[in-house]
Amino acid sequence: MAPDRATALFFDLFSGLPRQGPGTAASTRRALRLVPGVGSRTRVLDIGCGTGAQTQVLADSSPARIVAIDNHPPFIDALNGEARRLNLTDRLEARVADMHSLDFADGSFDLIWCEGAIYNVGVEAGLRDWRRLLRRDGHVALTEVCWNKPEPRAECAAFWNGEYPAIRDTAALLRAVESCGYEVVGHFPLPASAWWDDYYRPLQDNVTAFRKRHRDEPDAQELAEQCQHEIDIWHAYSEFYGYEFLVLRVG
Ligand SMILES: C[S@@+](CC[C@H](N)C(=O)[O-])C[C@H]1O[C@@H](n2cnc3c(N)ncnc32)[C@H](O)[C@@H]1O
Repeated sequence: MAPDRATALFFDLFSGLPRQGPGTAASTRRALRLVPGVGSRTRVLDIGCGTGAQTQVLADSSPARIVAIDNHPPFIDALNGEARRLNLTDRLEARVADMHSLDFADGSFDLIWCEGAIYNVGVEAGLRDWRRLLRRDGHVALTEVCWNKPEPRAECAAFWNGEYPAIRDTAALLRAVESCGYEVVGHFPLPASAWWDDYYRPLQDNVTAFRKRHRDEPDAQELAEQCQHEIDIWHAYSEFYGYEFLVLRVG
């Protein structure tokens, strides 16, 4: 079935990006080092993998067996294409799946990875639902947007409270994950380069080209404007918020 126009425009705007959210290879590697005993028998589930920027870092940095899922089939096709090109198909497989209803057997994985995607289900719901997929002593690594400073400027607070009302500060996020039965192994903020170099700079190029391509289409221009607004908010107010990387162990 062909996607509706809004979906098609969305994926047109976001096509060809190196990744689909803030993140860096160095941050993925740093988080992976916080997980003990990762080896060739480790089974990893990468949820909301997008085109697999972090999946490829995981595959490159460890001998683990990785299943990566996303609900957007072109992302999955792209990642499986990369796995074939890199001769990784014996231990990296991407599948179309919905993170709301994952049908893997209980205890199928040692490690769940989720960069910039758990917000789609909510941190607490994701951690509670996905726990059954982990073996005892399994780990979860995730990134989530957090307030860095109290009292963000009104325009910044209005943007984030509108886009993602669940945003909170890091201390509140850590309390929330502990209340879901996880121990915090470690956490650190993503650097500013994760937002600009790895995500918004390429996205800004896409927005500019998309505006030209869809010059006389009001719905496309409105979508581009929303995206531009998000980037402009980051330029103006990034000191107030950031992504936090959390590595957790099932308690
Ligand atoms: C912000 S992107 C992050 C992608 C990637 N992890 C990265 O950091 O580049 C969020 C991803 O979640 C995927 N997604 C959204 N809702 C989903 C769902 N219900 N099930 C599976 N994937 C979903 C999107 O297609 C997208 O690839």
